[in-house]
Amino acid sequence: MNKPIIFLDSGLGCLPYAHFFRFRNGAEDILCLADRANFPYGPKTKEELTTLLLDLTERVVQKYEPKIFVIACNTATLSALDILQERFSSLPFVGTVPAVKPAVKASRLRSIGVLATARTIAEPLIGELRDQHGRDCRLIPRAAPELVEFVEHRYSAASLQERREMARRYTDHFRAAGADTLVLACTHFLLMRDDFIAEAGEDMAIIDSLLGVCKRIEFLLDEGRRAPAGSEGEARILVTGTGPLEPYWKHLSGAYDFTLDGNL
Ligand code: DGL
Repeated sequence: MNKPIIFLDSGLGCLPYAHFFRFRNGAEDILCLADRANFPYGPKTKEELTTLLLDLTERVVQKYEPKIFVIACNTATLSALDILQERFSSLPFVGTVPAVKPAVKASRLRSIGVLATARTIAEPLIGELRDQHGRDCRLIPRAAPELVEFVEHRYSAASLQERREMARRYTDHFRAAGADTLVLACTHFLLMRDDFIAEAGEDMAIIDSLLGVCKRIEFLLDEGRRAPAGSEGEARILVTGTGPLEPYWKHLSGAYDFTLDGNL
């Protein structure tokens, strides 16, 4: 593996982002890093997250010398991106920020649901993005720690009906609150994108940051960081902690066509 592009999350949320990127950039080496030893990030304080992310990034930078570091996690981005970029100043970082800007464009009723972790909801950035891009819009934030747990531990073994019921809880909630647009502002929820789209129907737009994040990485690659054209990139997953890699993870990494590499 050449200098890889890292996609970091507390768990499975790194997969949809890395997968989407890989589909458009097959020559690049990708390393997904799932920090399962510290899962979930959502209930932690900003200070706890900053400390653990500085330590984890240090280990990854020493060992893999990445060329780009993607924080494929809204919670980690909003809590520590500035500090990480300052500490590792020669390494380009890409963050994952709730896609409020495109949501403001999409909303006819000017009412937008934001589904995220408690930590993300507590950050002032979501309100600041609204003020910047659509002052007339009303934001309806909701933290969904149980949905993070569902995706991380049960999603791939759940039936279609169970997944749809889970998504419906939230689309019903936001519809009743008057929203016609819903931002998936936690990377875990992207694994359930199709379930949300199915339950949202025609009258609610489901918005995410997949394309925005991907384009930002491509912009950095175009500054002279691209792998040689024609090469075939590797895509691997590493997890933190010492627990065994259960079949659930094997199944999901296979479904996304990544090689499960072992523990960091
Ligand atoms: N996937 C993460 C995010 O985008 C957080 C999930 C967690 O609570 O660990 O915010």
